[in-house]
Amino acid sequence: MLAQLREYAEAFHDAVPAEIADYIDGGSGAEATLGAASAAWLQWTLLPRVLRDVSTIDTRTTVLGADLAAPLGVAPTGFHTLAHPDGELATAAGAAGALFVVSARATQRYADIAAAAAGPWWAQLYVMRERAVTAGAAQQAAAAGAGALVLTGDTPYVGRKARQGRPVSLASDGTLLNFRDHLPAGADPAVATEQDPAATLDAVRWLTDLTGLPVLVKGVLRADDARACVAAGAAGIVVSNHGGRQLDRAAATATVLPEVAAAVGEQVPVLVDGGIRSGLDVLTALALGATAVLIGRPVLWALATDGAAGVAGVFAALSDDLRHVLGLVGAASPADLDRSMVRRG
Ligand SMILES: Cc1cc2nc3c(=O)[nH]c(=O)nc-3n(C[C@H](O)[C@H](O)[C@H](O)COP(=O)(O)O)c2cc1C
Repeated sequence: MLAQLREYAEAFHDAVPAEIADYIDGGSGAEATLGAASAAWLQWTLLPRVLRDVSTIDTRTTVLGADLAAPLGVAPTGFHTLAHPDGELATAAGAAGALFVVSARATQRYADIAAAAAGPWWAQLYVMRERAVTAGAAQQAAAAGAGALVLTGDTPYVGRKARQGRPVSLASDGTLLNFRDHLPAGADPAVATEQDPAATLDAVRWLTDLTGLPVLVKGVLRADDARACVAAGAAGIVVSNHGGRQLDRAAATATVLPEVAAAVGEQVPVLVDGGIRSGLDVLTALALGATAVLIGRPVLWALATDGAAGVAGVFAALSDDLRHVLGLVGAASPADLDRSMVRRG
């Protein structure tokens, strides 16, 4: 892990109560998937090229119309006001040059986040039991300027977390702020806004038609599933195991990324998250076929510790480290990376 990220990982324990730190850092089951995430990037070794002109390094990347200073973004994570009173507004302001994927469980309104955003943002959604709630939030995100929707597909039921002895009282006033305006009269909010385990890939086309936005599917770990998502209309794939918070023993994203990228990477952008903590992790993901990577917990650690400046610090540190290691492998830009530059073991 980069030194700057490690500092936030340690410091944030002083900024939030232990139950919130556990909510952020925890995983499901025995936390096997969580524990394996970062180490899995180390299974790949690098095969650098020599004597390439790397005097200028350009990390700029475009993903589905989002122009980024580096191929980095904020993974969707819920309840940013638990980490810092300024919540998603601080994250939006701090993530300058990076993509901000706003969680369905955001604690501030899309329009306010859009006003605070220093760069492009997308909205992550679940298919809720009450479809009108998901539809309303999707349309509201589109109206506020979201560039794409990210449909998380790995959460038919919420994974049972290991560390939460009792449920954190999750900023209940802000819970599902962007959804509850769309509750039909008489609906029980707790049921209507629960993820619907009956949801299928049909939701991709439904959300695309509803909003005109590209829809990515998040939580994909298999090549055949990625193909099925693209056939169902997905404009992109996010390889993710939800940060080890859903199915414990799910494969590490660093392990399966090459298979997914080989299956659909020519057709749609493939993003990845899970345990990415350094420029070398980012570089490895790009060489394995990712277009960009998303960062989950480190953003929350930094947000809790130092608000928008902390979030900006995470992306500055990762961009700087990525630039450095791109030079060392002989790549003047992410486009110079390819599968031949990484080898298992
Ligand atoms: C506190 C927390 C809340 C999360 N909430 C969501 C969410 O609302 N929607 C979602 O799709 N993923 C959610 N995730 C998963 C992240 O988007 C991402 O897949 C994961 O955190 C990436 O791994 P990393 O934390 O190791 O970088 C959450 C993760 C954390 C740590």
